[in-house]
Amino acid sequence: MVFQALRGTSDIFQAEATAWAELEQTLRAWAACYGYSEIRTPIIEPAGLFLRSIGEMTDIVQKEMFRFEDRGGNDIVLRPEGTAAVVRAFLEHHLYNQQALTRLFYLGPMFRAERPQAGRFRQFHQYGVEAIGSASPWVDVEVIALCVDSLRACGVRDLAVWVSSMGTREDQQRSAAYLRERLLPIRAQLPDYLQQRFDTNIFRVLDCKDEAVQQLVWQRIDRPFLLSEGSQAHFDTVRRGLEELGIPFDDSQAFARGLDYYTQTVFEVRATGLGAQDAVAAGGRYDNLVAEMGGPALGAVGFAAGIERIRLAIQAQQPSGAVGGREGCCLIVLHESVRAEARALLYQLRRAGHKALMDYELRSMKAQLRDANQHGFRYALLLGQQEMAQQAVAVKDLENAQQQLIRRDALLDWLSSHDS
Ligand code: HAM
Repeated sequence: MVFQALRGTSDIFQAEATAWAELEQTLRAWAACYGYSEIRTPIIEPAGLFLRSIGEMTDIVQKEMFRFEDRGGNDIVLRPEGTAAVVRAFLEHHLYNQQALTRLFYLGPMFRAERPQAGRFRQFHQYGVEAIGSASPWVDVEVIALCVDSLRACGVRDLAVWVSSMGTREDQQRSAAYLRERLLPIRAQLPDYLQQRFDTNIFRVLDCKDEAVQQLVWQRIDRPFLLSEGSQAHFDTVRRGLEELGIPFDDSQAFARGLDYYTQTVFEVRATGLGAQDAVAAGGRYDNLVAEMGGPALGAVGFAAGIERIRLAIQAQQPSGAVGGREGCCLIVLHESVRAEARALLYQLRRAGHKALMDYELRSMKAQLRDANQHGFRYALLLGQQEMAQQAVAVKDLENAQQQLIRRDALLDWLSSHDS
């Protein structure tokens, strides 16, 4: 029996794992610059947390949660997203007592039982940011700026920011009533799944990408969100803030997002090269969620970016893929009698902070050199009887094939100034 990874999950290893680690380092560094500190929440959470927060009628809750009963009869899910979990932790640990605005970020796997396709997985990874404790539009601007800055720093150059406002809960109630009235005459012409959305969450009818449906809908409405004066002013400030920072954005299309907790500003960052799943990051404000989950009335805003989609965007946008340069040393053992000496050198190098490997099998020099090349080592350190006698090592630079003899006692210093 040969096992395979489950559909929609993947193994990340070797060069790709290195690329992920570098990406995570960049994301952490940007979060730190903006004053966001890390939070790690559990992968399993009570199912009720997501039913309450992202909404019973959303696709995620209706059909995409990995949900099971544990032996104690508890209703448990593998977290489908991070916001609800962060708000739970924020309340559980009374973080609101520590400072007015709590800035948190997270990195980790999320799970949704979606139909896998390019850019859509069942286990995927998010870099998420949540700023909890303020209703100020300047925090929206900060969060969008952090999103764009960190994506650019990772190498996603060709991106577009889309912003929209869904208004307050009251605005949404008025808007839903308006949409129902305007769209009722065409309800019967909509496909079944949109008729269902019409009844459960009418804003989601706007999400449909089908052009014929889009035309039908937009013929009957001007703008889907009827914003109060306060909401309009909030949105204007966000746009002014983005302009001040020189972040280009598109606000020409009013859109809703598929999670129930959003209010006011919502945004999406789309990257070229991702095909249909082009949202590399998405987020928005959720001013009612903290109170709805039993906490104080605090405004909050955040976003999450998909790590797999960041990788896909980078690869699509820089096809030659800036693969990391050569580094480290591979010890090439040329004779049985030098093995002990080679092992001593191997550990000396490692303990001095150099990546170093050696072949324990005493294979041919050709085979060892081929491996050293394939594994991207910068230097091959050749050690045979002759080198031993001279208390030296023949150092071959695999970048240009040049070779020189270096004294054993000078080797570490030499490497420190040459091996990047
Ligand atoms: P979301 O739009 O569901 O929002 O997901 C955010 C990002 O996660 C997407 O733009 C995409 O890059 C990635 N993503 C989502 N589902 C998948 C999937 N099946 N496969 C691969 N990547 C995926 C949220 O999760 C909100 N919690 C964001 C947020 C934070 N809003 C406020 N704070």
